[in-house]
Amino acid sequence: MTAQNSLTITDNRTGRTYEIPIEMGTIDASHLRQIRASDDDFGLMSYDPAFKNTASCRSAITELNGERGILRHRGYAIEALAENCSFLEVAYLVLNGELPTQSELDQWVTDVANHTLIHKNVARHIEGFQHDAHPMGIFVSSVAALSTFYPDAKNVFDAECRKLQILRLIAKTPTIAAFAHRHSQGMTFAYPDNDLAYVGNFLNMMFKMTELKYKPNPVFERALNVLFICHADHEQNCSTTSMRVIASSQADPYCALSGAAAALYGPLHGGANEAVVRMLQEIGTVDNIPSFLASVKRGERRLMGFGHRVYRAYDPRAKIIKRCFDEVFTVTGRSPLLDVAVELERIALQEDYFISRQLYPNVDFYSGLIYKAMNFPMTIFPVLFAIPRTVGWLAHWQELLLDKEQKISRPRQVYVGVGPRPFVPRSERG
Ligand code: CMC
Repeated sequence: MTAQNSLTITDNRTGRTYEIPIEMGTIDASHLRQIRASDDDFGLMSYDPAFKNTASCRSAITELNGERGILRHRGYAIEALAENCSFLEVAYLVLNGELPTQSELDQWVTDVANHTLIHKNVARHIEGFQHDAHPMGIFVSSVAALSTFYPDAKNVFDAECRKLQILRLIAKTPTIAAFAHRHSQGMTFAYPDNDLAYVGNFLNMMFKMTELKYKPNPVFERALNVLFICHADHEQNCSTTSMRVIASSQADPYCALSGAAAALYGPLHGGANEAVVRMLQEIGTVDNIPSFLASVKRGERRLMGFGHRVYRAYDPRAKIIKRCFDEVFTVTGRSPLLDVAVELERIALQEDYFISRQLYPNVDFYSGLIYKAMNFPMTIFPVLFAIPRTVGWLAHWQELLLDKEQKISRPRQVYVGVGPRPFVPRSERG
């Protein structure tokens, strides 16, 4: 008699039957290895390029239901968090599992504020880049450089040490981002003002001019707070998986996070927000939308900001971000590109190409337009994704290190190259 929570597999090559346990809707892929066609057979593997149907870990941080468009951190709906919390409050939740009490939040905010400065040699490192260096390149490189300033970070199994690196990274990434921007503009650096909240201080470091005390626009501060919350974590995406893979070798968190940020940089991931605005600028006016969509349907290009590996419904973050527009545009005036974006979305959602593939706007479709309205240069958009995602990367880093089931990441391959052949001396080649 077979157990109920199991899978019975018959190997038609041999006629043998195997029973494999099912746990939490998964089978352990290593159980497949017992399935062999002959004694010298290595055993069956699963083949899954791009990890389309492979769970690489058990995680208690973020729950995502792509069919129903649901996103929750530690059980709390993203909508409730975006509506009611500060970004650092959500960061605390994502990292620690519970929302902070008032005194825990006060302490956490103070602790982060105490680490916002960067070593002057990190600032010099930033100054060493070409004036037109992409801020994401500066970010990736400067975060990696922090590893050399904090060699103690290698003690990844020391809980106190991990806590310190988490504080440093959450506090310093906005400073690095803002310094990268100011360097590209030829502006002197604006140092952190710890009287301001996390997001307000970031605006200060980005945009402070000659005023003695920078006062962030409360509408911009609120909108950026919501945008940061929407980007805090998104479970096993490309960059978070990179973070976990690098950290699985017990590399320090600065090197691991730099690698995660590098993965984020690509236009299919966190670089999409920049790519969306460039696409909207290229489309230019509503009249050009049909010909643009025709080229997408011919497979010549992608509609950036649309589609997602997991969501088969409207990305809940895109809905939240769309709601920020009214307030921001009351201050800045309506961007003509918003009309193009809204019409592009409206038409795309009626087209069979997008309906049949379940392609909806994702988090990046509207975020770039808000950043642009707030005067952020386009090249810094991916960095604006990386700052809040630092929280998610670190939460997964810590979860991985404490997970007894995890080992160094090392997938298998199916070798398809040439078979064994005799060596050819150089004089006999060609
Ligand atoms: N425009 C046009 N067609 C698309 C798009 C798009 N944006 N996305 C997917 N498709 C098509 C794709 O061509 C394929 O069609 P077919 O079956 O005829 O070959 C089908 O939809 C399935 O696409 P896929 O490439 O197999 O899907 P994926 O899960 O590998 O890719 C994605 C997910 C996000 C990389 C992709 O949807 C995409 O390139 N989107 C545009 C870039 C973008 O907005 N990225 C931000 C993602 S959200 C933020 C984040 O977490 O990074």
